[in-house]
Amino acid sequence: AAGTPGSPRSADFVVVANRLPVDRKKNKDGSQGWKTSPGGLVTALKPVVQAHGGAWIGWGGSADEHIDPFTFDGHGVVPVDLSSDEVAEYYEGMSNTTFWPLYHDCVEHPEYHREWWETYLEINERFARAAAEIASPGATVWVQDYQLQNVPALLRSMRPDLKIGFFLHIPFPPIELFMQLPWRFQVIDGLLGADIVGFQEPGSAHNFVRLGRRLGGLRTYRDKLFTTDGRTVTAKAYPISIDSQELLDLSRTPEAREIARQLRDDLGNPERIFLGVDRLDYTKGLRHRVQAFGELFTSGQLDPLNNVYLQVATPTREGVRRYQILHRDIDEMVGRINSQSGRIGRTPIQYRYSSYPKLALAAMYRAADVMVVSPLRDGMNLVAKEYVAAHDSDDGALVLSEFAGAALELTQAYMVNPYDVNGMKNQILRAAGDSHANHARRMRAMRKQVFKHDIEAWAGSFLSDLGSVPDPQ
Ligand code: ADP
Ligand code: G6P
Repeated sequence: AAGTPGSPRSADFVVVANRLPVDRKKNKDGSQGWKTSPGGLVTALKPVVQAHGGAWIGWGGSADEHIDPFTFDGHGVVPVDLSSDEVAEYYEGMSNTTFWPLYHDCVEHPEYHREWWETYLEINERFARAAAEIASPGATVWVQDYQLQNVPALLRSMRPDLKIGFFLHIPFPPIELFMQLPWRFQVIDGLLGADIVGFQEPGSAHNFVRLGRRLGGLRTYRDKLFTTDGRTVTAKAYPISIDSQELLDLSRTPEAREIARQLRDDLGNPERIFLGVDRLDYTKGLRHRVQAFGELFTSGQLDPLNNVYLQVATPTREGVRRYQILHRDIDEMVGRINSQSGRIGRTPIQYRYSSYPKLALAAMYRAADVMVVSPLRDGMNLVAKEYVAAHDSDDGALVLSEFAGAALELTQAYMVNPYDVNGMKNQILRAAGDSHANHARRMRAMRKQVFKHDIEAWAGSFLSDLGSVPDPQ
């Protein structure tokens, strides 16, 4: 059990993620406090960390600030400090201008800078050291995502007694793209420090095994890689999910119903509401989606008098140039389309560049007749699952990109290739105009899926596999 937070070798279960599971809040007396951050990962892992009196290691989100470890809600919180140069090179640079585009099919060009890589390694070592200090003998450590790919090997060299899991939340690219990376050997070696490397899709796991064989020269068998130091590493898919029940309960509250009603009112009580909810990220296919809606509205195939497309775009990574360009482009596109196809008192594209509380999102999902999720590439896409869980009447419809991991599970969605704008326009119209019976059948099948495979099932299956890994010799 946890003693003083951050005290040496006290935690049996440790999560290492770029972000902490807490956000700052202002207390009533004006002092600073913390609250649990929203999001599926935190919801899933927090109970496990609590049950073990464990700890969560992560960055607090601002530069040049020192925060001491503390206990929150029955678990340890261990902040890792980053200077503003480190944020620029490790987070905005290597993580979000190199790995992020490279792993998402190079939908934007990844940049390779040696200084970024040096800093990435230094910061990975800082996270690994924090985990090595706090983990109890034989503890389980679960490392999350592309910002920390070298932590598994660094941590294993410091603490060979630990069980180490790694989960990649984004796609793992085909070998042909991965080969561009100047530090490709180091990254593979970094990941191979884990006992289990988890991916969203079997295709990603397969890419990794193939790479271990081809680039690493390792012997492999099915989902196993045999390392040169005599260990066995498993590479397997564990598709992540959401807390389906919590979201459904939230969407059924009187507050959510009232917000949904108010929203319909504010939008002029149109016949149909189309909805998009995304971080404002170039992987999300927003340019193509806005283009498709623009053409539908200007051609009159969707009448602006009866139809509204509400797009919520969450501000994200605003220090990175590609994100600034995307922000400007979408602003311009939306402005142009609305001025060309609006009617007096009607604005066909309602664009909100803002973050919302979960309750407001649940209400939007409830209010939306057609949800459009059209990423060019996405590891999973939780928004698609959230819509299915929250929209509990049978009249909804989900338009979904075949390039989202979620497409493997939500097979009853109206599938689109987001690069094919005409195809996407047709599918949007088809989803909107389909019969009630078809909507109901598709929604029921998808609902069954997201309730059976929820976030608890995801964490449970990964941790049970990690638990059955033999203890290190
Ligand atoms: P990504 O992880 O790439 O952002 P996902 O769709 O998998 O994409 O997950 C996004 C998460 O962020 C979802 O849980 C969603 O509810 C949440 N989210 C998206 N937009 C907003 C917003 N405007 N306000 C609050 N939460 C949001
Ligand atoms: C994706 C990544 C996460 C990341 C999140 C938000 O879901 O897989 O690792 O935390 O986006 O991005 P941010 O850069 O704000 O942490």
